[in-house]
Amino acid sequence: MDLFAYRDGRLFVEDVAVEDIARAVGTPFYAYSAGMMQAQYRAFADAFSGTDATVCYAMKANSNRAVVALFAQLGAGADTVSEGEIRLAISAGVPPQKIVFSGVGKTKQEMAAALSLGILQFNVESEPELLALSEVASGRGMTAQVAIRINPDVDAATHAKISTGKKENKFGIPWPQARAVFAQAARLPGIKVSGITVHIGSQLTSLAPFEAAFRIVAGAVQTLRDDGIAIDHLDLGGGLGVQYRSGDNPPSPADYAAMVKRVTSNLGCRLFFEPGRLLVANAGILVTRLIYLKETEHKRFAIVDAAMNDLIRPTLYDAHHEVVPVKEPDDDAPRRRVDIVGPVCETGDVLALDRPMPDLIADDLLAVRSAGAYGAVMASSYNARLLVPEVLVNGADFAVIRPRPTYEDLLSADVIPDWLTAGRST
Ligand code: LLP
Repeated sequence: MDLFAYRDGRLFVEDVAVEDIARAVGTPFYAYSAGMMQAQYRAFADAFSGTDATVCYAMKANSNRAVVALFAQLGAGADTVSEGEIRLAISAGVPPQKIVFSGVGKTKQEMAAALSLGILQFNVESEPELLALSEVASGRGMTAQVAIRINPDVDAATHAKISTGKKENKFGIPWPQARAVFAQAARLPGIKVSGITVHIGSQLTSLAPFEAAFRIVAGAVQTLRDDGIAIDHLDLGGGLGVQYRSGDNPPSPADYAAMVKRVTSNLGCRLFFEPGRLLVANAGILVTRLIYLKETEHKRFAIVDAAMNDLIRPTLYDAHHEVVPVKEPDDDAPRRRVDIVGPVCETGDVLALDRPMPDLIADDLLAVRSAGAYGAVMASSYNARLLVPEVLVNGADFAVIRPRPTYEDLLSADVIPDWLTAGRST
Protein backbone atom coordinates (compact mmCIF):
# COMPACT_ATOMS: atom_id res chain seq x y z
CA MET A 1 0.00 0.00 0.00
CA ASP A 2 1.38 3.38 -1.03
CA LEU A 3 -0.45 6.44 0.28
CA PHE A 4 1.98 8.83 -1.43
CA ALA A 5 0.47 9.40 -4.86
CA TYR A 6 -0.16 12.08 -7.44
CA ARG A 7 -3.66 13.48 -7.73
CA ASP A 8 -4.34 15.92 -10.53
CA GLY A 9 -0.63 16.47 -10.95
CA ARG A 10 0.18 17.10 -7.29
CA LEU A 11 1.78 14.75 -4.77
CA PHE A 12 -0.44 13.84 -1.85
CA VAL A 13 0.23 12.15 1.49
CA GLU A 14 -3.05 10.35 2.13
CA ASP A 15 -5.60 13.14 1.49
CA VAL A 16 -3.28 16.09 2.06
CA ALA A 17 -1.37 17.87 -0.71
CA VAL A 18 2.34 18.06 0.08
CA GLU A 19 2.44 21.68 -1.07
CA ASP A 20 -0.25 22.57 1.49
CA ILE A 21 1.97 21.24 4.28
CA ALA A 22 4.93 23.11 2.80
CA ARG A 23 2.93 26.32 2.84
CA ALA A 24 2.02 25.79 6.49
CA VAL A 25 5.35 24.65 7.95
CA GLY A 26 8.00 25.77 5.44
CA THR A 27 10.74 23.49 4.13
CA PRO A 28 12.50 21.17 4.70
CA PHE A 29 10.21 18.85 6.68
CA TYR A 30 9.43 15.20 7.19
CA ALA A 31 5.88 14.01 6.49
CA TYR A 32 4.62 10.63 7.67
CA SER A 33 1.51 8.70 6.74
CA ALA A 34 -0.24 7.31 9.82
CA GLY A 35 -2.22 4.95 7.59
CA MET A 36 0.90 3.38 6.13
CA MET A 37 2.47 2.90 9.55
CA GLN A 38 -0.72 1.24 10.80
CA ALA A 39 -0.92 -0.99 7.72
CA GLN A 40 2.71 -2.09 8.10
CA TYR A 41 2.23 -2.89 11.77
CA ARG A 42 -0.89 -4.90 11.04
CA ALA A 43 0.80 -6.81 8.22
CA PHE A 44 3.60 -7.83 10.56
CA ALA A 45 1.40 -8.60 13.58
CA ASP A 46 -1.19 -10.47 11.49
CA ALA A 47 1.54 -12.66 10.02
CA PHE A 48 2.05 -14.02 13.54
CA SER A 49 -1.60 -14.22 14.57
CA GLY A 50 -2.30 -17.50 16.31
CA THR A 51 1.22 -17.62 17.77
CA ASP A 52 2.33 -16.25 21.10
CA ALA A 53 4.20 -13.28 19.63
CA THR A 54 4.78 -9.71 20.80
CA VAL A 55 5.90 -6.95 18.45
CA CYS A 56 8.24 -4.49 20.15
CA TYR A 57 8.68 -1.54 17.81
CA ALA A 58 12.39 -0.67 17.52
CA MET A 59 12.06 2.99 18.46
CA LYS A 60 15.46 3.94 17.17
CA ALA A 61 13.99 3.90 13.65
CA ASN A 62 11.72 6.82 14.47
CA SER A 63 11.25 7.82 18.07
CA ASN A 64 8.96 10.77 17.61
CA ARG A 65 6.52 10.43 20.51
CA ALA A 66 3.51 10.68 18.22
CA VAL A 67 4.83 7.81 16.11
CA VAL A 68 5.50 5.71 19.22
CA ALA A 69 1.99 6.57 20.48
CA LEU A 70 0.54 5.39 17.17
CA PHE A 71 2.15 1.98 17.60
CA ALA A 72 1.28 1.85 21.30
CA GLN A 73 -2.35 2.39 20.34
CA LEU A 74 -2.13 -0.65 18.06
CA GLY A 75 -0.84 -2.76 20.94
CA ALA A 76 2.88 -2.66 20.23
CA GLY A 77 5.61 -2.93 22.82
CA ALA A 78 8.93 -1.16 22.39
CA ASP A 79 12.52 -2.18 21.82
CA THR A 80 14.64 0.50 23.46
CA VAL A 81 18.35 1.22 23.70
CA SER A 82 18.61 4.02 26.26
CA GLU A 83 16.95 5.46 29.32
CA GLY A 84 15.70 8.23 27.06
CA GLU A 85 13.91 5.78 24.77
CA ILE A 86 12.41 3.94 27.78
CA ARG A 87 11.05 7.18 29.23
CA LEU A 88 9.78 8.27 25.86
CA ALA A 89 8.04 4.94 25.23
CA ILE A 90 6.25 5.02 28.57
CA SER A 91 5.21 8.62 28.10
CA ALA A 92 3.81 7.70 24.67
CA GLY A 93 1.63 5.00 26.19
CA VAL A 94 3.70 1.81 25.84
CA PRO A 95 3.11 -0.34 28.95
CA PRO A 96 6.43 -0.94 30.76
CA GLN A 97 5.64 -4.70 30.73
CA LYS A 98 6.07 -4.58 26.95
CA ILE A 99 9.43 -2.81 26.90
CA VAL A 100 12.70 -4.61 26.21
CA PHE A 101 16.02 -2.88 26.80
CA SER A 102 18.73 -3.69 24.24
CA GLY A 103 22.18 -2.24 23.62
CA VAL A 104 25.82 -3.05 24.33
CA GLY A 105 26.51 -0.24 26.77
CA LYS A 106 23.76 0.08 29.35
CA THR A 107 25.03 2.07 32.31
CA LYS A 108 24.21 1.18 35.92
CA GLN A 109 22.18 4.35 36.13
CA GLU A 110 20.11 3.27 33.13
CA MET A 111 19.69 -0.21 34.61
CA ALA A 112 18.43 1.25 37.88
CA ALA A 113 15.99 3.52 36.07
CA ALA A 114 14.73 0.66 33.89
CA LEU A 115 14.20 -1.56 36.93
CA SER A 116 12.29 1.08 38.81
CA LEU A 117 10.16 1.81 35.75
CA GLY A 118 9.20 -1.89 35.65
CA ILE A 119 10.30 -2.86 32.14
CA LEU A 120 9.83 -6.41 30.87
CA GLN A 121 13.35 -7.50 30.07
CA PHE A 122 17.02 -6.68 29.69
CA ASN A 123 18.70 -8.06 26.58
CA VAL A 124 22.19 -8.58 27.97
CA GLU A 125 25.15 -8.43 25.58
CA SER A 126 28.24 -9.24 27.68
CA GLU A 127 29.45 -10.83 30.89
CA PRO A 128 30.44 -7.52 32.55
CA GLU A 129 27.02 -6.14 31.74
CA LEU A 130 25.44 -9.20 33.38
CA LEU A 131 27.52 -8.68 36.53
CA ALA A 132 26.61 -5.00 36.67
CA LEU A 133 22.92 -5.80 36.27
CA SER A 134 23.11 -8.43 39.02
CA GLU A 135 24.71 -5.89 41.33
CA VAL A 136 22.17 -3.16 40.56
CA ALA A 137 19.12 -5.43 40.80
CA SER A 138 20.16 -7.41 43.87
CA GLY A 139 21.24 -4.17 45.59
CA ARG A 140 17.63 -3.02 45.25
CA GLY A 141 16.17 -6.35 46.27
CA MET A 142 14.81 -6.75 42.75
CA THR A 143 15.05 -9.40 40.06
CA ALA A 144 15.90 -8.43 36.49
CA GLN A 145 14.32 -10.55 33.75
CA VAL A 146 17.13 -11.35 31.36
CA ALA A 147 17.58 -12.64 27.84
CA ILE A 148 21.13 -13.05 26.60
CA ARG A 149 21.97 -11.92 23.09
CA ILE A 150 23.97 -14.47 21.21
CA ASN A 151 26.16 -13.63 18.27
CA PRO A 152 25.63 -16.44 15.75
CA ASP A 153 28.46 -15.40 13.40
CA VAL A 154 26.12 -15.17 10.42
CA ASP A 155 26.66 -12.78 7.53
CA ALA A 156 23.50 -10.72 7.09
CA ALA A 157 24.59 -9.72 3.56
CA THR A 158 23.71 -6.10 4.18
CA HIS A 159 25.75 -2.89 4.41
CA ALA A 160 28.82 -3.43 6.64
CA LYS A 161 27.85 -0.54 8.91
CA ILE A 162 24.50 -2.12 9.78
CA SER A 163 25.63 -5.75 9.99
CA THR A 164 25.66 -6.97 13.59
CA GLY A 165 25.77 -10.77 13.62
CA LYS A 166 29.38 -11.57 12.68
CA LYS A 167 31.83 -12.53 15.39
CA GLU A 168 33.96 -9.47 14.69
CA ASN A 169 30.97 -7.19 15.47
CA LYS A 170 30.58 -5.77 18.97
CA PHE A 171 27.11 -7.24 19.47
CA GLY A 172 26.06 -10.23 21.57
CA ILE A 173 28.14 -13.07 22.92
CA PRO A 174 29.40 -15.63 20.42
CA TRP A 175 27.65 -18.97 20.60
CA PRO A 176 28.72 -21.44 22.05
CA GLN A 177 30.83 -19.23 24.36
CA ALA A 178 27.56 -17.74 25.59
CA ARG A 179 26.59 -21.11 27.09
CA ALA A 180 28.84 -20.49 30.11
CA VAL A 181 27.37 -16.99 30.52
CA PHE A 182 23.84 -18.45 30.68
CA ALA A 183 25.07 -20.85 33.38
CA GLN A 184 26.64 -17.96 35.27
CA ALA A 185 23.44 -15.91 34.91
CA ALA A 186 21.41 -18.75 36.39
CA ARG A 187 23.55 -18.57 39.55
CA LEU A 188 23.70 -14.79 39.99
CA PRO A 189 21.55 -12.93 42.52
CA GLY A 190 19.01 -10.49 41.10
CA ILE A 191 18.91 -12.22 37.71
CA LYS A 192 16.31 -14.48 36.16
CA VAL A 193 17.51 -15.73 32.80
CA SER A 194 14.92 -17.33 30.57
CA GLY A 195 15.38 -15.95 27.06
CA ILE A 196 17.68 -15.85 24.07
CA THR A 197 17.89 -12.86 21.81
CA VAL A 198 19.50 -12.38 18.41
CA HIS A 199 19.65 -9.57 15.85
CA ILE A 200 22.05 -9.94 12.93
CA GLY A 201 21.60 -6.68 11.09
CA SER A 202 19.27 -4.28 9.37
CA GLN A 203 17.84 -4.02 5.85
CA LEU A 204 18.12 -7.74 5.17
CA THR A 205 16.72 -8.57 1.76
CA SER A 206 16.84 -12.36 1.99
CA LEU A 207 15.46 -14.85 4.49
CA ALA A 208 18.50 -17.15 4.38
CA PRO A 209 20.68 -15.30 6.93
CA PHE A 210 17.71 -14.98 9.32
CA GLU A 211 17.04 -18.68 9.01
CA ALA A 212 20.69 -19.58 9.59
CA ALA A 213 20.73 -17.45 12.76
CA PHE A 214 17.39 -18.74 14.04
CA ARG A 215 18.50 -22.35 13.56
CA ILE A 216 21.51 -21.62 15.76
CA VAL A 217 19.15 -20.11 18.34
CA ALA A 218 16.90 -23.19 18.18
CA GLY A 219 19.92 -25.42 18.77
CA ALA A 220 20.96 -23.21 21.68
CA VAL A 221 17.50 -23.60 23.28
CA GLN A 222 17.93 -27.38 23.35
CA THR A 223 21.49 -27.19 24.65
CA LEU A 224 20.57 -24.74 27.41
CA ARG A 225 17.54 -26.78 28.44
CA ASP A 226 19.83 -29.80 28.69
CA ASP A 227 22.00 -27.62 30.94
CA GLY A 228 18.98 -27.08 33.17
CA ILE A 229 18.19 -23.52 32.06
CA ALA A 230 14.50 -23.05 31.33
CA ILE A 231 14.42 -21.01 28.15
CA ASP A 232 10.82 -20.01 27.53
CA HIS A 233 11.08 -17.11 25.10
CA LEU A 234 13.06 -15.86 22.13
CA ASP A 235 13.55 -12.29 20.96
CA LEU A 236 14.38 -12.59 17.27
CA GLY A 237 15.25 -8.93 16.72
CA GLY A 238 14.35 -6.80 13.72
CA GLY A 239 16.08 -6.39 10.42
CA LEU A 240 13.51 -7.17 7.75
CA GLY A 241 14.37 -5.00 4.76
CA VAL A 242 12.14 -2.68 2.76
CA GLN A 243 11.94 -1.58 -0.85
CA TYR A 244 14.01 1.54 -1.46
CA ARG A 245 14.06 1.32 -5.26
CA SER A 246 11.71 -0.27 -7.72
CA GLY A 247 13.85 -3.40 -8.29
CA ASP A 248 14.18 -4.23 -4.58
CA ASN A 249 12.26 -7.30 -3.57
CA PRO A 250 12.56 -7.92 0.17
CA PRO A 251 10.71 -10.86 1.74
CA SER A 252 7.18 -10.14 2.90
CA PRO A 253 6.24 -10.31 6.59
CA ALA A 254 4.14 -13.39 5.71
CA ASP A 255 7.15 -15.21 4.19
CA TYR A 256 9.28 -14.18 7.14
CA ALA A 257 6.65 -15.43 9.60
CA ALA A 258 6.29 -18.76 7.77
CA MET A 259 10.05 -19.29 8.04
CA VAL A 260 10.10 -18.31 11.74
CA LYS A 261 7.28 -20.72 12.51
CA ARG A 262 9.01 -23.52 10.61
CA VAL A 263 12.21 -23.06 12.62
CA THR A 264 10.80 -22.34 16.07
CA SER A 265 7.33 -23.90 16.42
CA ASN A 266 8.58 -27.11 18.09
CA LEU A 267 10.36 -25.13 20.83
CA GLY A 268 7.25 -23.98 22.69
CA CYS A 269 8.74 -20.53 23.18
CA ARG A 270 6.97 -17.19 23.36
CA LEU A 271 8.34 -14.95 20.59
CA PHE A 272 9.31 -11.28 20.54
CA PHE A 273 10.22 -9.23 17.48
CA GLU A 274 11.87 -5.84 17.14
CA PRO A 275 10.98 -4.44 13.71
CA GLY A 276 11.89 -0.82 13.13
CA ARG A 277 12.51 0.11 9.51
CA LEU A 278 9.80 -2.17 8.18
CA LEU A 279 7.12 -0.29 10.10
CA VAL A 280 8.10 3.26 9.20
CA ALA A 281 10.60 3.61 6.33
CA ASN A 282 8.18 3.79 3.44
CA ALA A 283 5.66 5.77 5.46
CA GLY A 284 7.83 8.90 5.39
CA ILE A 285 9.14 11.49 2.96
CA LEU A 286 11.54 14.35 3.37
CA VAL A 287 10.26 17.38 1.49
CA THR A 288 12.79 19.91 0.28
CA ARG A 289 12.79 22.97 -1.92
CA LEU A 290 15.15 23.70 -4.78
CA ILE A 291 17.30 26.72 -4.02
CA TYR A 292 19.48 26.83 -7.13
CA LEU A 293 20.07 24.76 -10.21
CA LYS A 294 23.78 24.98 -10.87
CA GLU A 295 25.13 23.85 -14.21
CA THR A 296 28.78 23.47 -15.03
CA GLU A 297 30.48 22.01 -18.08
CA HIS A 298 30.65 18.70 -16.23
CA LYS A 299 27.68 18.45 -13.96
CA ARG A 300 24.23 19.63 -13.03
CA PHE A 301 23.52 20.15 -9.36
CA ALA A 302 20.11 20.65 -7.82
CA ILE A 303 20.98 22.51 -4.63
CA VAL A 304 18.10 21.98 -2.21
CA ASP A 305 17.34 23.19 1.30
CA ALA A 306 17.60 19.74 2.96
CA ALA A 307 21.04 18.33 3.61
CA MET A 308 23.08 15.54 5.15
CA ASN A 309 22.29 16.88 8.61
CA ASP A 310 18.59 16.25 7.93
CA LEU A 311 18.97 12.83 6.25
CA ILE A 312 22.37 11.24 6.66
CA ARG A 313 21.68 7.84 5.10
CA PRO A 314 23.00 8.63 1.59
CA THR A 315 26.18 10.11 3.07
CA LEU A 316 26.75 7.43 5.71
CA TYR A 317 25.69 4.26 3.90
CA ASP A 318 25.58 5.33 0.24
CA ALA A 319 21.89 4.64 0.65
CA HIS A 320 19.55 5.08 -2.30
CA HIS A 321 16.36 7.09 -1.80
CA GLU A 322 14.02 7.80 -4.68
CA VAL A 323 13.47 11.52 -5.26
CA VAL A 324 10.29 12.70 -6.97
CA PRO A 325 9.04 16.15 -7.88
CA VAL A 326 5.99 17.23 -5.88
CA LYS A 327 4.46 18.59 -9.10
CA GLU A 328 3.94 15.58 -11.34
CA PRO A 329 6.10 15.77 -14.46
CA ASP A 330 4.66 14.86 -17.85
CA ASP A 331 5.57 11.33 -18.86
CA ASP A 332 7.22 12.62 -22.01
CA ALA A 333 9.03 15.56 -20.37
CA PRO A 334 12.77 15.26 -21.09
CA ARG A 335 14.87 13.98 -18.20
CA ARG A 336 18.41 15.08 -17.47
CA ARG A 337 20.82 13.69 -14.92
CA VAL A 338 21.40 15.72 -11.82
CA ASP A 339 23.07 15.40 -8.42
CA ILE A 340 20.70 16.47 -5.66
CA VAL A 341 22.81 18.09 -2.96
CA GLY A 342 22.37 20.19 0.16
CA PRO A 343 23.90 23.47 1.34
CA VAL A 344 26.26 21.88 3.90
CA CYS A 345 29.95 22.50 3.34
CA GLU A 346 30.98 18.90 2.72
CA THR A 347 31.45 17.04 -0.54
CA GLY A 348 29.57 14.12 1.02
CA ASP A 349 26.49 16.26 1.45
CA VAL A 350 24.37 14.50 -1.15
CA LEU A 351 20.80 13.23 -1.11
CA ALA A 352 20.89 11.53 -4.50
CA LEU A 353 23.46 11.17 -7.26
CA ASP A 354 23.08 11.21 -11.02
CA ARG A 355 19.29 11.01 -11.12
CA PRO A 356 17.29 11.53 -14.28
CA MET A 357 14.94 14.38 -13.42
CA PRO A 358 12.61 16.62 -15.42
CA ASP A 359 13.68 20.25 -15.71
CA LEU A 360 13.55 21.89 -12.32
CA ILE A 361 13.35 25.56 -11.43
CA ALA A 362 14.04 27.37 -8.18
CA ASP A 363 11.34 26.89 -5.55
CA ASP A 364 10.22 23.52 -6.94
CA LEU A 365 9.46 21.01 -4.20
CA LEU A 366 11.02 17.55 -4.20
CA ALA A 367 10.10 14.56 -2.05
CA VAL A 368 12.82 12.18 -0.89
CA ARG A 369 11.04 8.89 -0.40
CA SER A 370 11.40 6.06 2.12
CA ALA A 371 12.68 8.52 4.70
CA GLY A 372 10.48 7.51 7.64
CA ALA A 373 13.14 5.30 9.25
CA TYR A 374 16.53 6.52 10.45
CA GLY A 375 15.78 9.97 8.99
CA ALA A 376 14.67 12.60 11.52
CA VAL A 377 16.11 10.57 14.39
CA MET A 378 19.61 10.83 12.94
CA ALA A 379 19.33 14.53 12.12
CA SER A 380 21.62 17.10 13.69
CA SER A 381 21.99 20.85 13.63
CA TYR A 382 25.39 20.68 11.92
CA ASN A 383 26.31 23.95 10.21
CA ALA A 384 23.99 25.65 12.74
CA ARG A 385 21.01 24.53 10.71
CA LEU A 386 17.68 24.26 12.52
CA LEU A 387 16.53 20.71 13.22
CA VAL A 388 14.04 19.56 10.62
CA PRO A 389 10.35 19.46 11.72
CA GLU A 390 8.04 16.47 11.42
CA VAL A 391 4.42 16.23 10.36
CA LEU A 392 2.01 13.32 10.76
CA VAL A 393 -0.79 12.98 8.22
CA ASN A 394 -3.99 11.15 9.06
CA GLY A 395 -6.53 11.15 6.24
CA ALA A 396 -7.32 14.75 5.40
CA ASP A 397 -5.68 16.08 8.59
CA PHE A 398 -2.11 16.76 9.48
CA ALA A 399 -0.39 17.69 12.71
CA VAL A 400 3.07 19.09 13.38
CA ILE A 401 4.52 16.45 15.71
CA ARG A 402 7.94 18.13 16.05
CA PRO A 403 7.97 21.87 15.39
CA ARG A 404 10.90 23.56 13.78
CA PRO A 405 13.01 25.15 16.51
CA THR A 406 13.62 28.88 16.38
CA TYR A 407 16.93 30.67 16.06
CA GLU A 408 16.45 31.70 19.71
CA ASP A 409 16.39 27.99 20.62
CA LEU A 410 19.57 27.49 18.64
CA LEU A 411 21.38 30.40 20.27
CA SER A 412 20.25 29.57 23.77
CA ALA A 413 21.44 25.96 23.56
CA ASP A 414 24.99 27.02 24.35
CA VAL A 415 26.17 29.03 27.32
CA ILE A 416 29.01 31.56 27.10
CA PRO A 417 30.84 31.66 30.46
CA ASP A 418 31.09 35.02 32.23
CA TRP A 419 34.83 35.16 31.78
CA LEU A 420 34.32 35.34 28.02
CA THR A 421 31.69 38.04 28.18
CA ALA A 422 33.34 40.28 30.79
CA GLY A 423 34.10 43.65 29.29
CA ARG A 424 32.24 42.84 26.08
CA SER A 425 30.01 45.61 24.88
CA THR A 426 26.80 44.25 23.46
N1 LLP B 1 16.86 -4.59 17.33
C1 LLP B 1 18.15 -4.27 17.52
C2 LLP B 1 18.88 -4.86 18.64
C3 LLP B 1 18.77 -3.36 16.63
O1 LLP B 1 20.05 -3.05 16.81
C4 LLP B 1 18.03 -2.80 15.56
C5 LLP B 1 18.64 -1.84 14.64
C6 LLP B 1 16.68 -3.17 15.42
C7 LLP B 1 16.13 -4.07 16.32
C8 LLP B 1 15.81 -2.63 14.33
O2 LLP B 1 16.25 -3.03 13.08
P1 LLP B 1 15.37 -2.74 11.78
O3 LLP B 1 14.12 -3.57 11.89
O4 LLP B 1 15.06 -1.30 11.77
O5 LLP B 1 16.24 -3.15 10.66
N2 LLP B 1 20.77 3.75 10.80
C9 LLP B 1 20.80 2.56 9.98
C10 LLP B 1 20.14 1.37 10.62
C11 LLP B 1 20.69 1.02 11.99
C12 LLP B 1 20.02 -0.16 12.63
C13 LLP B 1 20.48 -0.34 14.02
N3 LLP B 1 19.84 -1.41 14.73
C14 LLP B 1 20.18 2.88 8.63
O6 LLP B 1 19.77 4.02 8.41
O7 LLP B 1 20.13 2.03 7.76
